[in-house]
Amino acid sequence: MASPANKSLNVLVIGSGGREHALVQACKRSALVEGVVAAPGNVGMEMDCPCHPLDVTDVPAIVALAKKLAVNFVIVGPEVPLALGAADALEDAGFAVYGPRKAGAMLEASKVFTKDFLVRHNIPTARGAKFTKAADALAYLRGETYPTVIKASGLAAGKGVVIPRDYEEAARAIREMMDDKIFGASGDEVLVEEFMEGEEASIMVMVCGEKYVILPPSQDHKRVGEGDTGPNTGGMGAYTPTGVVTAEVDRRVREEIVEPTLRGLKAEGIDYRGTLYVGIMVTKTGPRVVEFNVRFGDPECQILLPMLKTDPLALMHACATGTLEPSLVEWKGGATIIVVLAAGGYPGDIRKGDVITLPATLPEHTSIVHAGTRRDAAGRIVTSGGRVLGVVAHGSTLAEAAGRAYGVVDTVKFEGMQFRRDIGARQLKRDAASRK
Ligand code: AMP
Ligand code: GLY
Repeated sequence: MASPANKSLNVLVIGSGGREHALVQACKRSALVEGVVAAPGNVGMEMDCPCHPLDVTDVPAIVALAKKLAVNFVIVGPEVPLALGAADALEDAGFAVYGPRKAGAMLEASKVFTKDFLVRHNIPTARGAKFTKAADALAYLRGETYPTVIKASGLAAGKGVVIPRDYEEAARAIREMMDDKIFGASGDEVLVEEFMEGEEASIMVMVCGEKYVILPPSQDHKRVGEGDTGPNTGGMGAYTPTGVVTAEVDRRVREEIVEPTLRGLKAEGIDYRGTLYVGIMVTKTGPRVVEFNVRFGDPECQILLPMLKTDPLALMHACATGTLEPSLVEWKGGATIIVVLAAGGYPGDIRKGDVITLPATLPEHTSIVHAGTRRDAAGRIVTSGGRVLGVVAHGSTLAEAAGRAYGVVDTVKFEGMQFRRDIGARQLKRDAASRK
């Protein structure tokens, strides 16, 4: 890997969530870095680096900021600026960028594009049908078996998927998406999909054209309540590695999903540089694609960067500049977990402005990332978003990592704080069973 000289990179991280705070922390640990700045950032990121105001949907403003700050590498955290062409505009202005150009970002920005792409390239996924007219969707749904899956095609901040149990629920979802436009233009086209049974896993791939590095498989916990109950959230916690991806599943993911996808992108003239997030369902007949995202998962990013022995910044820069050498990448081993601390009311109407008590020091192998935090007029750190903080811990086993994380969780306090005590529980059970 043609690594740049030590202290030669001036990095701009775009975004303001826990994922971007973890990216900033990783950059700061890198020997390659001269400086790190973030935009717009959050309170935690402000403690680590200078932060600049930015509307991440304003692509010319992103380019102007990168020029003004005279950075030489830009890491784009969230999908929205990528879908709007931030990587194209930055690259055209001469910046190295981690994150795909607009054409590649279609894999997240359009579920219909993605379904057609998967079918075109014979990649295993759920059977699907697309509709631009509510009446056609309703006619099709009358003949479906339930549960089925309905997806708004465009970006909907993770909320555009409904899994109706019967025709009545399905019809309501179609009317909300296509007639009431609850997701705006994202619901102009919808996808109706076969419901896949199985256990989900997140596969994060760092991509440099046809070369790639697969990060250890992880599992997100999307439901708000313990035992996977209650409404869906952005993610209440995650752990890695997950045993649901066995060596055989891993081989099939590479051969049947990742490699055909990268070959397909290339064949369609898309030189993809950045993270490809493959959401898979491990079904009885093997792994199948649930969704693609074109950026690191949040909170998966926070637990995957600490698994790398190789400098994550060097890897991102190598992907961006076409010099990735997958065989040189080294791993730490062990396990990492993140427990998300969410605001009261999340994922519905949330409490805001509650003062947060943080521990003065953190034990080894643990860190705290900020997501929905801000400073109030008195300078105190208060809650300001649904997912407020994430507690990250590494250990030689998942049990050790979990013990460390929950030890820190118990020292953080704010009114209404909610979190799940069972992050990683499925894997802890698998680990216990394999020791018997
Ligand atoms: P997506 O935004 O496409 O990842 O969908 C959100 C969630 O809905 C996924 O994480 C799955 O839990 C579920 N889901 C989506 N598509 C399917 C499917 N075809 N079968 C079963 N569950 C699905
Ligand atoms: N953790 C799910 C996502 O980032 O979309």
